[in-house]
Amino acid sequence: MTIVTPLHELCEPRSALDPARFRQALGAFATGVTIITTQAEDGMPVGVTANSFNSVSLEPPMVLWSLARKSGSCPAFISAEHWAVHILAWDQHELSSRFARPISGAEKFADLAWELDSDGNPLLSGCTTRMQCRTVHMYDGGDHIIFVGEVIGLEKNDVPPLVFQGGNYAIATSTRQAVPPPVDEDPRNVSANSSLGYLLASASLYYNARIYSQAKLLNVTEVEHLVLMALYEREARTCDEIITLVNYTGRSIGIESINDLEARELVRIDDESGCADSENLMIHLTDTGREVAARLNAESERLEMAIMEQLGTADTLALCNLLSRFNRIYRPMIPYRWF
Ligand SMILES: Cc1cc2nc3c(=O)[nH]c(=O)nc-3n(C[C@H](O)[C@H](O)[C@H](O)COP(=O)(O)O)c2cc1C
Repeated sequence: MTIVTPLHELCEPRSALDPARFRQALGAFATGVTIITTQAEDGMPVGVTANSFNSVSLEPPMVLWSLARKSGSCPAFISAEHWAVHILAWDQHELSSRFARPISGAEKFADLAWELDSDGNPLLSGCTTRMQCRTVHMYDGGDHIIFVGEVIGLEKNDVPPLVFQGGNYAIATSTRQAVPPPVDEDPRNVSANSSLGYLLASASLYYNARIYSQAKLLNVTEVEHLVLMALYEREARTCDEIITLVNYTGRSIGIESINDLEARELVRIDDESGCADSENLMIHLTDTGREVAARLNAESERLEMAIMEQLGTADTLALCNLLSRFNRIYRPMIPYRWF
């Protein structure tokens, strides 16, 4: 039996409702982020970051948002007949922070690409959706004013939106299972699948197996693949640099492997540098080596595209974001950048 706590028991008495705690509680409600713009009576552009935006009605199309009475932009929105809503894209958090600062409209719009629409609204670029609205109602909302607008213009693209939750910017990732599990799946597999270690290892196994099977077709070993890719990204590297890069992946390599690649005419060892020390010899790709490296590179780009297509843009961005955070924490010692 489910016990439902009556609502009045969950509510704290009015006098005990601490504004900071209230604000924190509201943070559990994930929202998108908008910048809402208008033109002040003196012709200056005005804009404010707002996540109180929401839909109201489909027919007629209406939206709402609320603005703090004490906000500097409030008088401009009260007197304006029109305003434009910009639903921000996943990479526009800096723009959001800029329009959330109590600075003048001129400062907010300085150095930005923007234009005026036919109703006088400043329009920003790079967002996922823009809506041009006409104020139809203004309501008292405590220390805020609630603006209700009729949507009279709309533009939209498929760029993933920026999300705001718990005081942080985020990217929304879908919880939908893209591939439903088989009906007869052994439940023990399900628990194994949910372990983080299993998931990381399994993803890495899949990726490496795909990449190295292509290398094998071109008669290139895993270690040689790494050497060729390291040289493909740069014109030339020292022998020592290549050895350090390859060792970082957990595989070992010595000068013999480089000599072997030279014997197969995939790399050229620059012994004209007059360097007696083998570690400091410069290694270059030959034309044949560059051709093989280009094919390997094209294959990994194809694989990446296929994964992105399967996951979708937003989930790919979310995955990249999490993996780069993971690498910053657990793999901070990359000796040389590959690129
Ligand atoms: C993600 C985010 C959402 C916000 N949402 C609102 C909102 O819905 N209403 C509001 O009045 N202020 C909101 N703010 C705060 C305003 O953006 C901020 O007070 C800003 O200074 C207002 O601009 P102004 O001072 O030029 O009027 C939000 C801030 C952030 C960072």
